[in-house]
Order: sequence, then structure tokens, then C-alpha cells
Amino acid sequence: MIRQICYLSAASETMDALQLAHLAEQARRFNAAMQLTGLLAYGGGYFFQTLEGPRDNVCAAFGRICRDRRHHDIRLLQDDEVASRDFAGMRLALAELDVARLAAPERMFDARAIPMLVSALKHDLPAETRLHRVIAAA
Ligand SMILES: Cc1cc2nc3c(=O)[nH]c(=O)nc-3n(C[C@H](O)[C@H](O)[C@H](O)COP(=O)(O)O)c2cc1C
Repeated sequence: MIRQICYLSAASETMDALQLAHLAEQARRFNAAMQLTGLLAYGGGYFFQTLEGPRDNVCAAFGRICRDRRHHDIRLLQDDEVASRDFAGMRLALAELDVARLAAPERMFDARAIPMLVSALKHDLPAETRLHRVIAAA
């Protein structure tokens, strides 16, 4: 079984494309070594990430993620055992998080809004993901 987590966090400062690319490059090195795959979406000052792989490796990576000062207010939205990966072959795809599409951003931290939010993000992302996969795989 594959463990899959999703979280949302607030960026500590506005990230430009270069900072984001640097962050993703660092993360991909870890992910490759730990058989992790996933997606990182950034927009409007928020990160949304899905990370998947062997249970203990996901746990170790999430520990490192939580200690990273580039973001704060990390909210674990989902922590599931899944039969297969959603982002197979992607060490960390990058996508744009369109905060405007969501309900008010502050509602992201409202527990009742979480299941809807996670499914909205997951359904929103595949087209973007394919695009970024091409870039990331280059
Ligand atoms: C938004 C965000 C996403 C991250 N994603 C990952 C990830 O997918 N995998 C991972 O191992 N670390 C991830 N990290 C953590 C950083 O890669 C890690 O903190 C950085 O490489 C420094 O690690 P070190 O201080 O343990 O050397 C993420 C950090 C942030 C802020």
C-alpha cells in the first residue's frame, strides 16, 4: 500500500519562480532517494502538496517539511492508504494553485471545508500536472 498525504500551508514570503524551482529541486533529490512522488502547487501565498510513497518515508519527509521555515501554519488535510499513486513517475510536479477558485482562503483552515477542498484541488490539477511533468522530466 502507498501512503498519501495532502497538506496546505502558508508561505513565509512570496516565492518567485526561481525560489520555487530551487525548493522543488531540493525536494526532488530527497524524493528520488525515498521513492516518493507528488505534486506541489503554489499560489496566492499558499502551498498545497500531495506526497505519496512508502509509509515511513512519507512520515520522514513530512517531518522535514514541517521544519522548513519557508512556510508555516501547515495543515494536514488528508492522510490515507491508497492502492496506487496519483503522481507516479513525478518526483515533484509543480503546479499553480489558483486561490481565486477556492472559497475564501481563510476557509482553507476550516475543517468542514477540507474534504471539498482536497477533491477540488485534485480534480483541478491533472491538466496542469501533465504540463509540468514534461518540464520536470526534461
Ligand atoms: C513547500 C515545501 C515543500 C517541500 N516538499 C518536500 C518534499 O516533497 N520532499 C522532501 O523530502 N522535502 C520537502 N520539503 C523540505 C525541503 O526539501 C527541506 O527542508 C530542505 O531540502 C532542507 O532540508 P534539510 O534541512 O533537512 O537539509 C519541502 C519544503 C517546503 C517548504
